[in-house]
Amino acid sequence: MNTEKIIEKLYENAEASRGELEFLIDGRNEETAQKLSALARRRALENFGNKIYVRGLIEISSFCKNDCLYCGIRRSNGKAQRYRLTKDEILECCREGYGLGFRTFVLQGGEDAFFTDDVTAGIVASIRAGFPDCAITLSLGERSRESYEKLFRAGANRYLLRHETATPEHYAKLHPKELSLENRMECLRALKEIGFQTGCGFMVGSPFQTTADIVNDLMFIKSFSPQMVGIGPFIPHHDTPFADKPAGAAELTVFLLSVVRLMNPKVLLPATTALGTIEDGGRERGVLAGCNVVMPNLSPLSVRKKYMLYDNKLSTGEEAAEARAALERRMEKIGYRVVTERGDYKD
Ligand code: 5AD
Repeated sequence: MNTEKIIEKLYENAEASRGELEFLIDGRNEETAQKLSALARRRALENFGNKIYVRGLIEISSFCKNDCLYCGIRRSNGKAQRYRLTKDEILECCREGYGLGFRTFVLQGGEDAFFTDDVTAGIVASIRAGFPDCAITLSLGERSRESYEKLFRAGANRYLLRHETATPEHYAKLHPKELSLENRMECLRALKEIGFQTGCGFMVGSPFQTTADIVNDLMFIKSFSPQMVGIGPFIPHHDTPFADKPAGAAELTVFLLSVVRLMNPKVLLPATTALGTIEDGGRERGVLAGCNVVMPNLSPLSVRKKYMLYDNKLSTGEEAAEARAALERRMEKIGYRVVTERGDYKD
């Protein structure tokens, strides 16, 4: 096998075999990473020009009924600071975001029983009525098909639900026994069938992850053909069972972002907060490797430090929606421009 050939094939055909992907990942070096990144960047430029879409992230609740071993807001973390936003607070975030040029609002939260279908659909309907030209993205975890249908009918357009890992045995090492990959996949399929622009994704360097697991993730993403993919490094949180596990590497994260871009040319691919957290300039590095989305934080300042999925999670500086001008300058420096558009998936 020859790395150059694999990369060229990825660029030309948007595919590679399991064996080729494993070879590419395990055999990567500075030179192949450069080549891969350059082609992934070219592919993104061909499809999106130098536009960067922005999404305003509103973290609506830090309550969660789940106990995922990696996550700082897991149920059994008694030290986590819990809050939930009211409908008025959420609408106020949207108003502020609209003024700053955001045309997509992402409502993300733990699986909080307070946000029943009726409550959540009511919030979605109010945003839909108040901001008819905006996209509404939800990231609220696993719910029933009926629930997803209600939220879609209320006016939500997109849904983010990372699959976390496509290997069942690996999934079981990251999650409590009540949670299964099967159910997660069921949710993802339902979301797509209902008509949501759907996003899946995984953490890079999560505990026990092998190259074969990563290849499973890449193959799953290719076959599921999502509209969005979220990939960031695992970062330990000090009050979780994975407190002492090492963080994922920025280098491997960026490499995989490029592979995802080449395998899924039109996918909406954010340079995530986690990437910006483990490395200065991580977001820029992601964009230069084929990302075309950034998701600054629009949550009220008073709660930002409470939505701590992992240690040192950024929520100010370039991560903050108020700092849109600064973000624009950073992107301009590397040749990109932040645009005020919904940035829907286009086939
Ligand atoms: N490090 C990195 N990402 C994390 N997430 C949760 N906990 C962590 C962590 N410790 C990610 C998960 C989840 C998304 C909202 O945040 O992938 O789907």
